[in-house]
Amino acid sequence: MNYVVITGASAGIGEEFAKQLANEGHHLILVARRKERLDALARQLFDKYQVKVEVIVEDLIEPGACERVANHIADKGWQLEGLVNNAGFGELGMFDQVNLQRQLNMLQLNVACVIDLSHRLIPSLKQTYLAQNKPSFIINVGSTSAFQGGPNMSVYFATKAFLLSFSEAIHEELKDKGIDVCVLCPGATATEFADVAAMNDTKLFKAGAMSAEDVVKSALDNRKKAIVIPGFSNKLMIWAGKLSPRSINRKVAHFWVGSGQ
Ligand SMILES: NC(=O)c1ccc[n+]([C@@H]2O[C@H](COP(=O)([O-])OP(=O)(O)OC[C@H]3O[C@@H](n4cnc5c(N)ncnc54)[C@H](OP(=O)(O)O)[C@@H]3O)[C@@H](O)[C@H]2O)c1
Repeated sequence: MNYVVITGASAGIGEEFAKQLANEGHHLILVARRKERLDALARQLFDKYQVKVEVIVEDLIEPGACERVANHIADKGWQLEGLVNNAGFGELGMFDQVNLQRQLNMLQLNVACVIDLSHRLIPSLKQTYLAQNKPSFIINVGSTSAFQGGPNMSVYFATKAFLLSFSEAIHEELKDKGIDVCVLCPGATATEFADVAAMNDTKLFKAGAMSAEDVVKSALDNRKKAIVIPGFSNKLMIWAGKLSPRSINRKVAHFWVGSGQ
């Protein structure tokens, strides 16, 4: 029996990945901090889709958390066919004004955890392909933030730029090893993200946000591509950004994100 691991499955885009992957018939391993939410989702998915759903409660910012997740999966003998590196958060504010530890935690969750978990779980994904001739996949949840510097969200934008570069590189490395690697780059999406990042009053979120359902559908429909940008306006923005200088693009980002005051 093969499983898909989803980090940050207790809310938003991760929860939606769990629903749509369960609907495709995948067995799931859900990871996040809020146990009650994960347990409730696991029950709901089992009842509706008759898939096996395991729950691992971890704060992925804590030292050794990714190792504990990987060891738990190995100890249980759960074979993997997918990994969705989704857990992440942002914070609005000037770099020198936002709490330093919070920004280091962001780097840990949005970047280091993706490297750590991917490195530990890729052997199982490769094994599934070798033993069962069944392709497996990694989806890293990036952002349209990846494509330019982001004044007043500098560390968040930089974490997503890392994910874009990293994902493109391992897409090429792993494509002949039976693992499709994709980086999903959503724009504003209606989840708990804006609350956590204190972004509800920004022009970006006031202008409207895509549903997590549409974002995840776009990712799963296009999971063999290296980069998936859901939604026409997000695609248009990235395309226009390629035609204009970076000095303009970061000012456009600043306009949408605002001052954070
Ligand atoms: N929403 C947007 O506008 C948007 C746009 C572009 C990209 N994204 C990206 O999409 C991804 C998912 O965000 P979302 O919009 O779905 O936000 P969300 O609704 O706030 O969900 C975030 C998920 O991450 C989990 N998480 C946060 N800190 C964690 C930690 N320390 N350890 C383990 N899990 C943790 C949360 O679960 P617990 O709190 O239960 O731990 C939750 O399940 C993020 O990588 C984000 O950067 C979002």
